[in-house]
Amino acid sequence: MSDFINVGILGLGNVGAGVVRLLSEKRTIIEKRVGKPVRITKGVVSNLTQKRGLDLSEIQMSTNPEHILNDPDIDIVLELIGGLSLAETIILTALKKGKSVVTANKALLAEKGSIIFPAAHDAPGFFGFETSVGTAIPIIRTLREGFAGDEILKISGIVNGTSNYILTCMAQEGMEFEDALEKAQEKGLAETDPTLDIQGIDAAHKLIIMMNIAFNGVFDFSELYIEGISDITALDIRYTSQLGYTIKHVAKAQTTKAGIEAHVHPVLVPRDHILSSVNNAFNSILVLGEFMGSSNLYGLGAGPGPSAVAVMGDIVEACRYIQTGQQRPISPFSIPLEAWTPRQLVPMETIRSEYYLRFHVRDRLGVLAFISRILAKYRISVRSVIQTGEPTKKENPVDIVLITHEAVEADIQTALEEIKGQSFIAGRTQLIRIEAE
Ligand code: HSE
Repeated sequence: MSDFINVGILGLGNVGAGVVRLLSEKRTIIEKRVGKPVRITKGVVSNLTQKRGLDLSEIQMSTNPEHILNDPDIDIVLELIGGLSLAETIILTALKKGKSVVTANKALLAEKGSIIFPAAHDAPGFFGFETSVGTAIPIIRTLREGFAGDEILKISGIVNGTSNYILTCMAQEGMEFEDALEKAQEKGLAETDPTLDIQGIDAAHKLIIMMNIAFNGVFDFSELYIEGISDITALDIRYTSQLGYTIKHVAKAQTTKAGIEAHVHPVLVPRDHILSSVNNAFNSILVLGEFMGSSNLYGLGAGPGPSAVAVMGDIVEACRYIQTGQQRPISPFSIPLEAWTPRQLVPMETIRSEYYLRFHVRDRLGVLAFISRILAKYRISVRSVIQTGEPTKKENPVDIVLITHEAVEADIQTALEEIKGQSFIAGRTQLIRIEAE
């Protein structure tokens, strides 16, 4: 056995650079915890000349992944390049070669989990993916190990730091979405192309990964209902605040009598709800277990520091497996492969929720009566109504805000479709679901 644990790193973006810095600054403490020095001996990047402000003098660099994959001295392959196709090949090849693998690639695990997890399960090496969800919140280990003795009934949380930062700016500074997004980009939080964050896809990737572990099955990412925050306006933030709610972007999955229900979208949470006070780039994940009750995990969900620590936790665990010669680590998703079956979600149309609806209408006699009649036709009962705005002229647009009692999603969608074509409608109708508990 070598005197060192050798790591090969693929990708030196924010997370990769953070890992190099962390290992360099915390070398002694990590060596004590592992019992051996851990060193990054090889690196692969797409551009060798790019300035990164890192000391790479002890790392042999290349642009070719085989530089790491074909090296028998590399114990741990660290995949931080992101994307689907090349990352998949790198991970599968490394696993086949008996290496331990650590990845932060949530998109790959969420969309191709049915390929990656079985391969990881059958491989002798350790497979770590803690960084894929929550970064400074160790939710993967918590679900797989800490809560392995309970039946998980619900996971719900704020798992996208960028969206949460934008919604916080909108709520606290009255900003419009576009301005808050620009601020998040200036702060280096949101990517230049922020689509994955603001359209809810990043949060959905994280939810599917948690569900695979919590509910012992493989869920199809394409079945998940996903909405981002880009249609939330400063006006909605104001109205909902007057009603005692905060708008948050929440990823949620729960067991119901009909099966597992899961969705990712903005929600109104009552101001005294625990998620209401999760602000800026913080994440918070609530897990409800049948025996344990509710547990709340809170921490930074993004950034080089928290991400590097999450990656290093997996590296340390991989080192311990290597040190003890353990050939078959625990299953990466908590149960044996044979028991890991495809699972279907309850269709979104059948879920029940309370709703916030904002109609932008021309102020005309009978409009409210018409809307109420259509809602009643589809069994949607109204809990409260406010009409806002002071039209200066007849038929000037005003907002009618309604809060409904619990209704069925399909009924709401059909009713809104019927109202949409009416001549009094002066703009897009807003729908935001309400988190009951
Ligand atoms: N872009 C993600 C977020 C961080 O804003 O939460 C990486 O998962």
